[in-house]
Amino acid sequence: MTPQIKIPMSSPDLTDADRQAVIEVINTPNLSMGKFTPAFEKTFCDLTGAKHAIAVNSGTAGLHLCVRAAGIGAGDLVITTPFSFVASSNVLLFENAIPIFVDIDPKTGNINPELVADAARNIEKYLPRQLPFTNYQSSNKLKAILPVDVFGQPADMDAINAVAREHGLTVIEDSCEALGATYKGQPAGTLGEYGVFAFYPNKQITTGEGGLIITDDDKAADFMRALRNQGRAPGDTWLQHTHLGYNYRIDEMSAAMGYAQMQRLESLLSKREQVAAWYESRLSEIPGVEVLFIEPSTTRMSWFVYVIRFDKKINRDTAAKKLDARGVAVRPYFAPIHLQPYMVEKFGWRAGDFPVTEDLGARGLAIPFSGVMTEEQVEYVCQMIREVVNES
Ligand SMILES: Cc1ncc(COP(=O)(O)O)c(C=O)c1O
Repeated sequence: MTPQIKIPMSSPDLTDADRQAVIEVINTPNLSMGKFTPAFEKTFCDLTGAKHAIAVNSGTAGLHLCVRAAGIGAGDLVITTPFSFVASSNVLLFENAIPIFVDIDPKTGNINPELVADAARNIEKYLPRQLPFTNYQSSNKLKAILPVDVFGQPADMDAINAVAREHGLTVIEDSCEALGATYKGQPAGTLGEYGVFAFYPNKQITTGEGGLIITDDDKAADFMRALRNQGRAPGDTWLQHTHLGYNYRIDEMSAAMGYAQMQRLESLLSKREQVAAWYESRLSEIPGVEVLFIEPSTTRMSWFVYVIRFDKKINRDTAAKKLDARGVAVRPYFAPIHLQPYMVEKFGWRAGDFPVTEDLGARGLAIPFSGVMTEEQVEYVCQMIREVVNES
């Protein structure tokens, strides 16, 4: 039977002003490195108070530049979370560094700061079974912590920064899901040495593809700007390359769309808050369905996705199939990183290594979510969830 209603996972929230901004660009010859890239960057300095903003062509590219700027290289160790989108770990593998996974807080899905502290003290206990790039030697140094603001909720950054200070580690905050969130009143992305945002079409603002780094470090900002642009340092000509760089430039059409979206960030975020509130009031009444716990330290949640957790008695995958058949698009979220085939092959991780991550990975389901959803759509999704749970 073909479902009558199809509610997608997400939809971008675009206005005529956003479209007009892109048209303005394509009516000029400046499709890359024009005025919109710095204008877009400035909106982030204004929002967060960061000294530097560097726009790039994906969140992954942004995280990779932070890894380079932090001097993380082959065999270096970085404490991070297996409950994330793969890119937060992949950027370490790009440099042959080793992700040191620690498990998460079951309530929020964010990295568990007590385990971060323990790993920094007892790193041998947390090494993977296999070390593919180098034989581990004591010269392989713990260099950094890479926490992720999962689903738009900041990680416990005070506790993480305390560990970083004690052990002399750099903190790269993956805020790709958390634009606009605040932690104890401070903007997400500003809580470590580097913060990174991402703008894929399901994000709070979109540029199609895109990302952006914020930092207060002048030297690192110059270095990352050079690496974004094929390694051209300030003063280099077009065919002079001081560093080994990349083409991580954002194009002007994307920057213009992002600039236009940033003008109404507050309204984009509050529409998402409204949809999350509609969901919460309905879903919290359904037995067997859990909604996300928001920590008191999260002074503003920036809703990126809406992930529910089924009780252990309900089979998540069966429920997902039934919802899909009823026209409700859903997706398990996240799939644990350590159990991805290439991670298992490289590091020898096994099921059972990070039980909280695996448990949330097995019970979590992202349901349709965007700022353009109507209350009727939310009601329909919740009604379908009610039916599916009753059948379980
Ligand atoms: C936590 C996290 N990190 C990194 C990324 C990578 O961003 P992009 O897809 O723009 O490369 C994402 C994107 O979804 C993400 O959710």
